[in-house]
Amino acid sequence: MKRWNVKYPNRFNLDSKEDYLKWRDEKLAAYPKDVGGLAVELGNMAAITPAERSKILETVERANMCVYTAGAAELEMSSLLALGKQLGVANTDKSSRHTQSDELTDSGILNRAIPFSTRHVNWHTDATYYGSDKTIQALFLLCKRPAVEGGSNKVLDNEVLYIHLRDKDPDALDILMNKNCFKYKNPATGEISEHLGGKVFWINTDGHLCHRFSFRKMDMAWSEDGDITAARKVLESLISDESEHVIEGRLESGMGLISNNVLHTREKLVDSDDAAKKRLLFRARFYDRVNA
Ligand SMILES: [Fe+2]
Repeated sequence: MKRWNVKYPNRFNLDSKEDYLKWRDEKLAAYPKDVGGLAVELGNMAAITPAERSKILETVERANMCVYTAGAAELEMSSLLALGKQLGVANTDKSSRHTQSDELTDSGILNRAIPFSTRHVNWHTDATYYGSDKTIQALFLLCKRPAVEGGSNKVLDNEVLYIHLRDKDPDALDILMNKNCFKYKNPATGEISEHLGGKVFWINTDGHLCHRFSFRKMDMAWSEDGDITAARKVLESLISDESEHVIEGRLESGMGLISNNVLHTREKLVDSDDAAKKRLLFRARFYDRVNA
């Protein structure tokens, strides 16, 4: 393990360069080059061995995510939750949402919300709509059936995005880390919640970087303050430019993603007309994180 959190506790402090510069070089050197560098093979995701657990934690430390194979486990939600528990994450937001909303398939639920369709989903982290005090820090996926065609994901570690932003425009990063940049807007009613939303990047109590962002504006009312608008533009153009650190891969049946809610897309897909053969991924989101 690199133990960067202990070695460079000030790496996310904009007033301190020393930790940042050392960590930056180590982080970029250790960052996986492709999806193969993210892969961890498991014998049974519901009962992992100490060696498998170490490999997961080490990969998540390098990239804030890993891609795993389920092994002998059933491709069901229960296996995904069991995997989370073994990695110290168990606090899901399931009770607060639609019961089917963690089965990603072309069901058209939630007013045909985009995750439940075959359309392209632009860069985002999951669940931008919680308040700053309680946000989703981990996102896990497990693929039961892939699409007939397409449906891959692009992923980018939030910490790498932080590095790009800090190197390019530290003033913009400062604004995104310290100002309340947006409020949650109810997409059905347009009503704005004063207490939901907040910062775009922040540090949690354990010294880890948290991030949330979405190109979708239907549920995010961004502040119209000039400095926040300018910072948002810098961030959006960096994400759109898709640096060489963006990794793309498709989850096939029996594969999944463990992540600390990294930025991701979903490419558009062609699905089966047969309901029993439609693309189906299980999703779990947690208030806690891997490598806390
Ligand atoms: Fe997502």
